[in-house]
Amino acid sequence: MTEINSVTTLTRDGDIAVITLNSPPVNALSAKVREGLFEGFKAAGASDAKAIVLICEGRTFIAGADISEFGGAMAGPSLFDVQDMMEGSPIPVVAAIHGTALGGGLEVALCAHYRVAVPSARVGLPEVALGLLPGAGGTQRLPRIVGVEAALDMVTSGRHVPAKQALAMGLVDELVEEGKLLEGALAFARKAVAENKPLVKVRDNNAKLEAAKGKPEIFADFRKANARKFRGFTAPENNIKAVEAAVNSATFDEGLKAERKLFTELMMGAQSAAQRYYFFAERQANKIPDVPDDTPIRPIKKVGILGAGTMGGGIAMNFLNTGIPVTIVEVQEAALERGLGVIRKNYERSRTAKPEETEARMALLSGSLDFEKLADCDLIIEAVFERMDIKKDIFARLDKVAKPGAILASNTSYLDIDEIASVTSRPQDVIGLHFFSPANVMKLLEIVRGEKTAKDVIATSMKLAKQIGKIAVLAGVCPGFIGNRMLSQRQREAQKLVMEGAMPWDIDRVLYDFGFPMGPFAMSDLAGLDIGWVKENSHGETIRDVLCEMDRRGQKTGAGYYDYDEKGAAKPSPVTEKIINDFIVKSGANPRKISDEEILERCVYPMINEGAKILEEGKAIRPSDIDVVWVNGYGWPVYRGGPMHYGDLVGADKVLAKMKEFQATMGDAFAPSALLEKLVADGKKFSDIKA
Ligand code: 3HC
Ligand code: NAI
Repeated sequence: MTEINSVTTLTRDGDIAVITLNSPPVNALSAKVREGLFEGFKAAGASDAKAIVLICEGRTFIAGADISEFGGAMAGPSLFDVQDMMEGSPIPVVAAIHGTALGGGLEVALCAHYRVAVPSARVGLPEVALGLLPGAGGTQRLPRIVGVEAALDMVTSGRHVPAKQALAMGLVDELVEEGKLLEGALAFARKAVAENKPLVKVRDNNAKLEAAKGKPEIFADFRKANARKFRGFTAPENNIKAVEAAVNSATFDEGLKAERKLFTELMMGAQSAAQRYYFFAERQANKIPDVPDDTPIRPIKKVGILGAGTMGGGIAMNFLNTGIPVTIVEVQEAALERGLGVIRKNYERSRTAKPEETEARMALLSGSLDFEKLADCDLIIEAVFERMDIKKDIFARLDKVAKPGAILASNTSYLDIDEIASVTSRPQDVIGLHFFSPANVMKLLEIVRGEKTAKDVIATSMKLAKQIGKIAVLAGVCPGFIGNRMLSQRQREAQKLVMEGAMPWDIDRVLYDFGFPMGPFAMSDLAGLDIGWVKENSHGETIRDVLCEMDRRGQKTGAGYYDYDEKGAAKPSPVTEKIINDFIVKSGANPRKISDEEILERCVYPMINEGAKILEEGKAIRPSDIDVVWVNGYGWPVYRGGPMHYGDLVGADKVLAKMKEFQATMGDAFAPSALLEKLVADGKKFSDIKA
C-alpha cells in the first residue's frame, strides 16, 4: 500500500490499482482530496497496473466540492487538473459509487471512463441549491450522456437520481451488489481490460447535443414552464445558459469556458453567498451546546394527538408516513370523523401515495373520544384550541393518564409552555412542538424548550424531527417563540401602513418582489379573514371586521382584501379601498404617498430588531437559527439568507439608524434592541455572534 497523503491510499489488487479516499464526513473535494486524487492517478498511471478503480471510505462517495473553501483562495491542484489526469489516463478508470456522488463528486466520476454503483447510491448536481451551477464540466458532460431535457431538469432541480434510474439514463454503467462495491468494481475493471473496452471520454460524445441543435424552443419552453419556480433566483438561468452553451459551442473546451464564466458570475454574487451560508445554518441548527450528541434518546413507538382539527390531522400524517402508530383523541364525535376523513382524503389525493400505501397508513391510525386511550403513548401532542385554560385542563389530565417518561408536547403558537407545564407533576417531560400549517407539508418544526424541559426530551424531539423529515430549530419560551414573535412586528407595520395611505396590494407587491411567495394581505385572504373572528362580537371596529361582516372572508368567499375573478386571480378591490379610506377619514389622519423603500424597511427592519431581542434574551441559540425558521416556516427567500443574514447585508448600522428614525417619529414600537446597539458600537455583524 502507498500512502499518497493523509486522505488517499493507492493499493493493488492483482492488475488493478485501487485509489481510496478517506476524508470524513463526506469526502468533499478539499485541497487534500484534490492533491490525493491528482498524485494517486499520476502514480497509478505510471505503474504497470492495467486499470484503476476509484472508491471512497465512509458513508459516501465524494459529495461535492468543499463548500467551506468557497470564497477563499484554492490551494494545490485544481479540480480541472484532477479531471484531466483521470480522463487522459492511458488505462481504464472505473469510479465506484456508494452513498451520494454529488456536484463536483459526480463531475469527477464523469471523468472516469466507466461508473459502477450500488443500488442504494444516488447521483446529482445539486449546485443550484447553493446558488451555483456545476462548475467542473457538469453542465457540459451531463447533457452529452442524458440528453438536453434531462440535463436541464437535473441541474435546475438539483435532484438526487437513484442508482437504478441513473443506470437507465446511462449515467452509471453497471449496478453491483449492495455491500460488495469494491468486488463489483474490480470485476468490472477486469472485464474492461479483458474485453479491451475503449477509454470512453464523455467529452467526445456529441450525439445527444447534435439532436438538440437548432431547437432553441427546448430552452424557451423549459424557461416558460418553470418561470414561477425560478422567480427571483439567478442560478437556474445560469444553469440553463450553461447547458445551452454545451449545445451551441463549437468545441467542448469552448463550452467549458462558457460554463466557467457563468459559474464565476454566480460565485461572486450575493445570492450564492446567502445560499451557502444557509446550507451551514441548517446544519448548525441541529447543534445544541448543552445537549451533546450522545444524550440518551427516549424511544417513540406510539404517538397520541389531542384535537383532530387543522393541525392535529396534519401532525398525525407525519408519523403515519414513517410507520409510527397514532391515536387521535377528540372531544366531539363529528370533529373526529371529519378529521380522520380529511387525513384519508389527503392521502387519496396525493400523487405519490399508492392505494395500498394509503391503507397501510390508515391502518396505523385510530381515533377515540376516550382520553384513557393515550395511556400507552410515548409522545402526546396537544393541538386543541389556542386557549390557556383549555390547555391547562388538558395537561393536568394528561399528567394523570400518560405513562411515566412519556413526552407531553403542545403545538401552541404563542402560549407559555412553562405555564402549561406547571400544572403537571412532570414539567421536565413537557416541551413545545410547534408545527406549521399544513403540518404534513411544511418543513419547519420549532421546538420550544421550557425552563425545566429535560435534555433527553430535547434530544429525542430533535431526532424525531429528522426522522419525520422536518428541519428543527430550538427556541425558548416567549410569546410567539421565534417565528410568530417576529411576524407580529411585520403584521403590525403592514396594518399601520394601510392606515397611513399604502394599499394592501402595494404592501403585498413590495414583499412579493422582495421574494416572499405572497404578502400578508394575500396570505390573510388565502387563510381566511375569519380565523379567530366571531360574528357576534364584531362591530365594524377594524377593516377586517367590516370585510368579514360583508362576507368578504377571503378566497373561499370570492372576496377579501382583494376581489377574485372566476379563475381565482386576485385584483385590487375598489370596495376594500373605500373601506380603508373611510377608516382613514374617521381616524383624522392624512394619507400620504408611501415609497416602496419605506414599506420594505417598515416591514423588515423591526423583524431584524426583534430577532436581535430574541438573541439578547437567549430565546434563540444563534442568529442563523432565526434564519432557518424564516426560510422554512415563512417563505423568506433563501437567496437572501434569512432576516439576520439580510440585516448583515444591509448593515447593522443602517438598520439601527432607521429604527431610531422611526422611533423618533412613530414611537417605541421601534425601540432598538440593546444587542443591535452593541453590535454597531463594536463594529460587528450578526454573523459574529456565536452560540
Ligand atoms: N462541503 C463541506 N462540508 C460538507 C459538504 C460539502 N460539500 N457536504 C456536507 N458537508 C458537511 C456538513 O456541513 C456536515 O458537517 P457537520 O457534521 O460539521 O455539521 C457534514 O458534512 C454532514 O452533512 P449532513 O449533515 O448534511 O449529512 P447527511 O448525511 O444528512 O447528508 C449529503 C449528506 C447528502 C452529502 C449532504 O451533506 C449534502 O447534500 N451535501 C452537499 C452536497 C452538495 O451540495 N454538493 C455540491 C457542492 S458544490 C460543488 O460541488 C461545486 C462544483 O460543481 C465545482
Ligand atoms: P382547530 O380548531 O382546527 O382544531 C382544534 C380541535 O381541537 C377541534 O377539532 C376541537 O374539537 C378539538 N378540541 C378542543 N378541545 C379539545 C379537548 N379538550 N380535547 C380534545 N380535542 C379538543 O385548531 P388548529 O388550527 O388545528 O389549532 C390547534 C392548535 O395548533 C392551536 O394551539 C393553534 O394555535 C396551533 N397552531 C395552529 C396553526 C394553524 O395555522 N392553524 C399553526 C400552528 C399552530
